[in-house]
Amino acid sequence: MQSMEPDLHDKPSLQRGLGLYVNYCLACHSLRFQRYERTADDLGIPHELFLENLVFTGQKIGGLMATSMPEEEAKAWFGARPPDLTMVARVRGEEWLYNYLKTFYLDPTRPFGVNNKVFENVGMPHVMMDLQGVQREVCRGFKPVDLLDGESVIVAEPEPHCFLEVEEGSGSFSAGEFDDAVYDLVNFLYYVGEPTRLERERLGVYVLLFLGLLFVFAYLLNREYWKDVH
Ligand code: HEC
Repeated sequence: MQSMEPDLHDKPSLQRGLGLYVNYCLACHSLRFQRYERTADDLGIPHELFLENLVFTGQKIGGLMATSMPEEEAKAWFGARPPDLTMVARVRGEEWLYNYLKTFYLDPTRPFGVNNKVFENVGMPHVMMDLQGVQREVCRGFKPVDLLDGESVIVAEPEPHCFLEVEEGSGSFSAGEFDDAVYDLVNFLYYVGEPTRLERERLGVYVLLFLGLLFVFAYLLNREYWKDVH
């Protein structure tokens, strides 16, 4: 697993993530506990601009971020209903998401021709293949391991040495650009999992400052009371 450190202060990243989500994910995955308006306000996007460029369902700005895909048919098409993703970052974690979105690879035995390294036999197609390109699993020969155990030499089972490789020039993004795009997308999903996180953290500082101040007065008062007893 590659690590991923979300950053809610990076508004441009969240905005790019939202753009990717609306264009590549919302058709199948709703965010039905999140409203367009809250998203626009938190990410600093004017309502007009948001409605024109990011709402394709004809909904109002106050609407929930629903998908237009009918549930029953979706199950028949993909074998599994595309789940709502409002809470996915809290259930799976941002690191899981980051690696999941990067590790779709060709597998002709699967219905959509791709499999995934993090979520084996997933029913989701590789929706960002036009960006990332065609990724294959390449196994280069064998990596024999010789272990020295005192006098004798033990030859361990040969281990195939496999890794994922993107076919050069098959995607419109370079490897670095695709990593950045997936980072932005996961950053956005992290935000959606708890939109009040920044507010909560800011408020937490004031609460701690207040408690600190209260402690001074409580301490002085305590000393005043006990003065008479001693
Ligand atoms: C064509 C429809 C479709 C699109 C578009 C799509 N997905 Fe999926 N996705 C699915 C289906 C179907 C599943 C359920 C697969 C299963 O359970 O085997 C799924 C599963 C997932 C899961 C796993 C959820 C879980 O916890 O089990 C995540 C995360 C996910 N998708 C993220 C995304 C993101 C991010 C995008 C946009 C880049 C996206 N998907 C675009 C169909 C889609």
